[in-house]
Amino acid sequence: MHTLTPPAHCTFDPDDWLRLARQWHPVARACDITGAPAKAVLLDEQLVIYRIHGKVVVARDVCPHRGVPLTLGFHDEEGIICPYHGLRFGEEGRCNRIPSSPGQPVPAKLNLISYQAEERFGLIWVCMAPDAEQPAPLPTMPHWDDAGFQQINCPGFDVNGFAGRQVEGFLDVAHFAWVHTATFADASNQVVPAYNPVETASGFTVDYWSTVSNFAADSPQQAPEGFEWLRRFEMHLPFTATLTIHFPGEARLVIMNAASPVSARKTRMFAPIARNFDLHVPIEDVHAFNLRVFEEDRLMVETQRPERLPLDLTLEAHIPADRSSIAYRRGLKRMGFGEFFLV
Ligand code: FES
Ligand SMILES: [Fe+2]
Repeated sequence: MHTLTPPAHCTFDPDDWLRLARQWHPVARACDITGAPAKAVLLDEQLVIYRIHGKVVVARDVCPHRGVPLTLGFHDEEGIICPYHGLRFGEEGRCNRIPSSPGQPVPAKLNLISYQAEERFGLIWVCMAPDAEQPAPLPTMPHWDDAGFQQINCPGFDVNGFAGRQVEGFLDVAHFAWVHTATFADASNQVVPAYNPVETASGFTVDYWSTVSNFAADSPQQAPEGFEWLRRFEMHLPFTATLTIHFPGEARLVIMNAASPVSARKTRMFAPIARNFDLHVPIEDVHAFNLRVFEEDRLMVETQRPERLPLDLTLEAHIPADRSSIAYRRGLKRMGFGEFFLV
């Protein structure tokens, strides 16, 4: 075992970094990981991701021999191969070939530093520093495995901002009428009815009732007159929120907003989606619509100041519609995160 320390040029406070390293974060779509070495950055750490005999390996992207990134290499049936001297790494990141001295036993020091990894909701999740006493649970997602539901996973995309700001925006219901009118919201429906976040073991849930439709702005479909929409948010601290939208009848749309903290200033977004209606609509159309909604948020999230998320509630002004944002900041504070998250 190695002792885990924040990487060089870490953009987080070292204590916050370690707290984050104990949690699960998504790093890639499972469908994008074949045998070949793929690159990701999580919490300022460069990672290599590959598959061997179907099983995924996530490791530090540093060859233990002379420090060349494995993501510059290639792969064969038995693992990924460093481009410099051809060392090969297979299951669990173990070195299984030294071409310059075949037949020699391989010292453990030549193994990659690998991390705990799980596949769930079509994503690869990584926990870099599992807490042996209190292992962090993976987020859950309603309906993903239910009969009649289709699973969709939009390609990951990058946001130039802090994950905490992005997630808080996803929980925010007051910006629909201002930011999302081209996709689903109604510019004249601005009032936010009262709602109450309820604390849970891993964050909080919110049942938010309103008349804001979730049908696409150009859709001929309409909810019955006076229909009340339920949006259930489930916040899994620190950066994964899941929204279940109750459409008329039994139709349900679940969107997971899984924000991966690349650094304190960069975020890679993943969005697994499950739904039980419109199953004939091409998946590319769902990707495109979802991306449009997220793109509408981009300018706000990337330009908010400070970039960090102030956890001291007296540092920003709040309005009654902010109950979720406040619950979010309180939850992060309960987890022990520093006031500012960024250094
Ligand atoms: S640096 Fe990777 S094999 Fe030498
Ligand atoms: Fe938004």
